[in-house]
Amino acid sequence: MSQQLAEINIQRLMGTIEESAEIGKLPNGGICRLTLTDEDKVMRDLFYQWLLDAGLEIRIDDFGNMYGRREGERDELAPVLIGSHLDTQPNGGKFDGILGVLGALEVIRTLNDLELKTMRPIEIVNFTNEEGARFEPAMLGSGAMTNVFSKQAVLNKTDQQGKVFGSELRRIGYEGTEENRAKDIFSFLELHIEQGPILEDSHKAIGIVSGIQGMNWIEVTVKGETAHTGTRPMVNRKDAILHAAKLITRIYSLAAEYPDLLISVGRINAYPNVINSVSSEAKFSIDIRHPNNKTRKRFTNQLRETLSMMTLVENMEIQITDIADVETEHFTDSIIDVIQTAVEKYGYSYLNMQSGAAHDAKYLNKVAPTGMIFIPSINGVSHCEEELSEAVDIERGVQVLLHSVITLANKENLI
Ligand code: GLV
Ligand code: MN
Ligand code: MN
Repeated sequence: MSQQLAEINIQRLMGTIEESAEIGKLPNGGICRLTLTDEDKVMRDLFYQWLLDAGLEIRIDDFGNMYGRREGERDELAPVLIGSHLDTQPNGGKFDGILGVLGALEVIRTLNDLELKTMRPIEIVNFTNEEGARFEPAMLGSGAMTNVFSKQAVLNKTDQQGKVFGSELRRIGYEGTEENRAKDIFSFLELHIEQGPILEDSHKAIGIVSGIQGMNWIEVTVKGETAHTGTRPMVNRKDAILHAAKLITRIYSLAAEYPDLLISVGRINAYPNVINSVSSEAKFSIDIRHPNNKTRKRFTNQLRETLSMMTLVENMEIQITDIADVETEHFTDSIIDVIQTAVEKYGYSYLNMQSGAAHDAKYLNKVAPTGMIFIPSINGVSHCEEELSEAVDIERGVQVLLHSVITLANKENLI
């Protein structure tokens, strides 16, 4: 069977995506499937069964990353790894990450239907905690597997309720072993929705991703003094929420001075968080992204200086905690070429672009030649229930993934 004729089954894939969307289903078509929750376990159990049905050999590593291996004709060779994540944001969509895992499964199912053997083994992966919505920072499973994070640091992470990553992993029955981690990876490919408006606005079917922009995650804790709201005079108050509000406003105006910089305070918590007590503490997060590492660092330094200056002048008390500092990553040219050849073979329109969002591919790029394929997101929205990609675009993306996988899994080496 020639590889030009290999065609995925889009109805089957859309059905599989819909089955996944039932687990943690929200009222408006989205999903809440936070990592290592009961919903994540139900999804993992179903995915495990799908891997078994596809005849794959299954492994779980010590961070709960799940792998399904399809044997190669020369099975001793390094595998081609494909996949993404099945966890979601609290108000997530049904495609972010999920397309990359279930699209990879569709690739395997298609190869099985066609009885198409490859020289190298192919492994599918579902990475744990890509979103960072429950345990911070994001991409913990892929970062741990690639030794960016130490094992103990990851297993000891706690969520906002104080639940521990390692215990939660054991509780849902997905604590595997260190020797099951993917190693000697020949190449890694991740298919993903774009999550932004660029492909749709430029009427292109496929994004060939050149790399991923860097980011910082910071948490600011503002200390105040609690008091009765009806008795403490305004002049004597140390109101943590008021101080946080001033700092946040200043941060956004500082960011506006940097072209292409993206910044967001996405989370804020106040204590004691009641209507008739002056707040004693406020904690807020800052997410900072920029394609250029130098500019991102210049901004974060200026941000720190500005915050300390304000706390001095206005007599505030704050503490700054770094949660993540991730460099801009550039993908491997030879993998970009393989993807481009696949796209051109099908005659799809495409754009070479950088990823605004972070992905597991970011850390995989440190240990193996890596590339990503994007498809359009309708209205450019993601991390929300309205997230949508059309079946026709999904089909194109998975075709490109299939073609690229066949090419890579039959390559002796990458030049
Ligand atoms: C991952 O979803 C990110 O934060 O970019
Ligand atoms: Mn994702
Ligand atoms: Mn995401």
